[in-house]
Amino acid sequence: MGKKPFFFIALTFCMAAASSPVIENGDFENDTTGWEFRLQSGAAGTLAVLPSDRPGAGNCGVVTVTTTGADFYYVQILQTELAISPSKTYTIAFYAKADAAKPFQLAFQKGVSDYSGTFKTVNLTTAWQQFKFTGLTRPSPDTLIPVQLAFSVGKNTGTFYFDDIQIIDEGRNITPIPDDWLIKANERIALHRKGDFTVTVRKSNAVMPSCSVKVDLKKNEFQWGTAIAISSNMDDNERRYRDTAKKYFNYGTFENVFKWSEMERTQNSPNYGEVNRYLAWADSAGWDLRGHTLIWGRTRDNHGMPSWTGSLSNAALIAACSTRVTREVTEYKGRLKEYDALNEPLHERWLDSTLGGDHAIYTRIFKWARAADPAAELYINEYNILEYSEKAGYVSLVDELVKAGAPIDGIGLQGHFTKRFVWKEVAQNLQYIADYGLPIKITECDINIGGIPEDTLAMLYATFMRIAFSHPSVNALVFWGFWESRHWRPNGAFFRSDWTKRVAADSLYHLVHREWSTHLSTVADASGNVAFNGFNGTYEIAVKDGAQWKVFPAPVVLSGKGTRSVGIDISSGTVELRNPSLDASSLVTGAFRDHIAVFDTRGRLVTRFDKAAGVRLIIAGNGKASLHGRTLLARGAYVVKVTGKRGAVVVPVLVMK
Ligand code: XIL
Repeated sequence: MGKKPFFFIALTFCMAAASSPVIENGDFENDTTGWEFRLQSGAAGTLAVLPSDRPGAGNCGVVTVTTTGADFYYVQILQTELAISPSKTYTIAFYAKADAAKPFQLAFQKGVSDYSGTFKTVNLTTAWQQFKFTGLTRPSPDTLIPVQLAFSVGKNTGTFYFDDIQIIDEGRNITPIPDDWLIKANERIALHRKGDFTVTVRKSNAVMPSCSVKVDLKKNEFQWGTAIAISSNMDDNERRYRDTAKKYFNYGTFENVFKWSEMERTQNSPNYGEVNRYLAWADSAGWDLRGHTLIWGRTRDNHGMPSWTGSLSNAALIAACSTRVTREVTEYKGRLKEYDALNEPLHERWLDSTLGGDHAIYTRIFKWARAADPAAELYINEYNILEYSEKAGYVSLVDELVKAGAPIDGIGLQGHFTKRFVWKEVAQNLQYIADYGLPIKITECDINIGGIPEDTLAMLYATFMRIAFSHPSVNALVFWGFWESRHWRPNGAFFRSDWTKRVAADSLYHLVHREWSTHLSTVADASGNVAFNGFNGTYEIAVKDGAQWKVFPAPVVLSGKGTRSVGIDISSGTVELRNPSLDASSLVTGAFRDHIAVFDTRGRLVTRFDKAAGVRLIIAGNGKASLHGRTLLARGAYVVKVTGKRGAVVVPVLVMK
């Protein structure tokens, strides 16, 4: 047969690859080849291929619905078993119109079980339009699960026209989650959450050889949080609520009291009473609280926009948003370190739509907040990312806002789960967000599945905690409450109304306070050194001095990669950094440093210097650290955190003027 047929086959293959690599016959030039027409019971319709009235387009696919069904998917054309890689992103593009203005639903989904994936409701008109959805990923990272693309039209009778349907590889790679990612969680935890620490114990400047020492992690650097709804009625439940919160968590967020509609029920009369009450309690617990949320563009119901915003002109609405953001961030400057500046922009569209839908208000929210408190970290927050995979739209919105100048410091993922999720899908969705490059907080986790066995619920919580804690981009996991009687999704609570524990409460405690915590009782070596591998965070150290245990009065912060060494002197109560292995020069060069944050010894942010401030942290040969520059810091003890591209270093510093 020679060369000819071979050449012919190769050419056909190349042409197919160039025009439509995944979808077969997406332009309907080959009749209905490759397309399946699917009806669910009760619905009726047809699929035909007819000449298109779009110039030069040849044929198009025509779906006619004569009897509608209960949902879009009752009448579908689809292609199944598509070759979609888990490590790539795709654009889905197509032309469509209908016999009258009406919607259909595009589903890029799993071909089995829960049929989850990306769903887009698309409104068609009588004119041909091209639609494009970008940044899409495989509905399941498991390549054994088939993928299908469906055009579902069953909710409306009439005629729908489709043409030039393509799935295009965007040439962008996402980091694939390998099968053994979860079983390697402990390796990542050891790498990202722990360090090798040495504490040298002294008394009146002399080392205390062979003394007994107890080392207890009091607060993990990773923020294990909960939404908080406290009451001023100090009854038994309230006491248990507060005690339980302190015992299980180290950080929190306002469930409702910081929301605009709660704080400013009457325009221009903001009420800070509740928030201040929460903050006073958080101080007593040694917690930070996140400001949830500055703007939630939800319609004026159930904690969305304040009701009075409904009657404002657009200009007055923008002014009210500006006042809200600037006033509250100024009020809590230095007190709240972070905000969900913008909540649920993909879903709660009232505010932006009212203002024309161009997202300009979103960028302004971040700019107003930054201007009011440059040190506050500003997060965007959204749901349906980890579970329902709406990640492509989220990343493109974040990127659009960042490019428009919005100072977004981190990405919030809510994590309200409703299903027995598959760990790998959740991890892959998280990784997709992480690949954008900003820090991530899990801001509102709960698992709401009615009738689920308790141990299954506990297993799901533990699995998700492992996913989040082992991922280096994640720095917090906040649960959306813990007690059934004060829980938005009571099925997800760790404690029942009568305060008996669900199994998940023990899993939570075990992981956070045992498996991922450091507690040791040991004896120092002949030079007074206690060396150990521990979790990053704030430690309490007790030393046996003669017959008496003495608890060292200052918190000892141990964190960072490589070996960290501190000296403590139990007679003077001072902490001194002694860290010969710390590369001081890398800390003080501009290339390393993004910013220096200064905390008081209770961990509250005092101030933050960016690069331009010219402040330097210098570690001397004797291991003592000092801050240089116009620091304007009062004399006293601080904890300084230097953050840069290679991570963060935390050191105690004494400021003496
Ligand atoms: C919820 C609260 O838990 C409820 O008490 C309130 O009635 C409505 O809001 N996503 C968010 C949270 O960002 O603010 C919501 O909190 C839950 C969903």
